[in-house]
Order: sequence, then structure tokens, then C-alpha cells
Amino acid sequence: MEAIIFVGIPASGKSSFYAQRFASTHVRISRDLLKTKYREQRFIKTCLETNQSMVIDNTSPTRLERQRLITLIQSSAMPCRVVGYYFQSRIADCLRRNQRRPDAVPEVAIIAKAKQLELPSLSEGFEKLVYVRLTETGFEVERWNDEV
Ligand SMILES: Nc1ncnc2c1ncn2[C@@H]1O[C@H](COP(=O)(O)OP(=O)(O)O)[C@@H](O)[C@H]1O
Ligand SMILES: [Mg+2]
Repeated sequence: MEAIIFVGIPASGKSSFYAQRFASTHVRISRDLLKTKYREQRFIKTCLETNQSMVIDNTSPTRLERQRLITLIQSSAMPCRVVGYYFQSRIADCLRRNQRRPDAVPEVAIIAKAKQLELPSLSEGFEKLVYVRLTETGFEVERWNDEV
């Protein structure tokens, strides 16, 4: 079983990447969809108890937020590897993509998330980190060996 934690500001490409790469294998845990932390936690626990791989498709910008998730995942009775996907979060690119999408969020939300953002590190408990960049031609993915 695998739990993937996405990290990236709004419009960095997280949900599109999930749809392309993980929709047929991993359950999507989305705060936008589930609304509350309580419900999110219940769904994560159910995945862990039933050996179901998942993607946690939230912004998860801070170490504290990710620690909460990683601690929960590591408390699982069944083994589960934790992998982080960091989405390049350039404010100008995200504002531009946000303007073009039907479910645009307020610009201040993107700027606020960018201010909160702390880059993920293997020391947080990730087994692997992956760097994803959304370009004009699609997603570019590379293994990320920490400490850029
Ligand atoms: N391959 C792509 N090339 C350019 N823009 C894309 C591509 N895939 C998605 N987008 C656009 O990027 C925007 C943000 O994508 P989304 O996946 O919703 O981001 P997030 O889940 O991080 O908020 C959307 O407007 C989407 O249409
Ligand atoms: Mg999304």
C-alpha cells in the first residue's frame, strides 16, 4: 500500500496529475471534496485498514500539516509507504492557469498558500520525493533528492 501526499499551491496541477496518473489505482482524498479534517481522517483510516493506496490531493503547504498526515499513516497496522509529490508552485504561472479555469479560486488564496509553503524534505518521513512541473506540453516529472 502506498500513500502519496501532494504539495503545491492552487492551480499547480495536482488534480489534473492525479487524473492522469493515479485515478485507476489510488483513491483520491481531497479536502475540497470531503470538506472537513474529520471526514478526511476517516477516509484515510479506511484506506489504511483496507490496504487501499491513496493520493492526498490537498495543498499541504506546511511541515506541520504534512506531519499530521504522516503520523496518521505511520500508525497503520498494515505497512504503507509514504511518497511526496511536490508541484512547482510559481505564483505567476498558477495565477495565469487559475484565471483560465472555470472553478477559479480568489487570487489571495493562491498568494496566501505560496507564503505558507515550506518545501518538503525526506526528513519529514517521506520514502521518496518527486518533483512535478506543469509545462505547456504537459507534466515533467523527476526524482527529487532533497535539499534543492
Ligand atoms: N497539461 C496541461 N497543460 C496546461 N494546463 C493544464 C494542463 N493540465 C491542467 N492544466 C490546467 O491547470 C489548471 C490547474 O490544474 P489543477 O489540476 O486543477 O490544479 P490544482 O489541483 O493544483 O489546483 C487548470 O486550469 C487546468 O486546466
Ligand atoms: Mg485540485
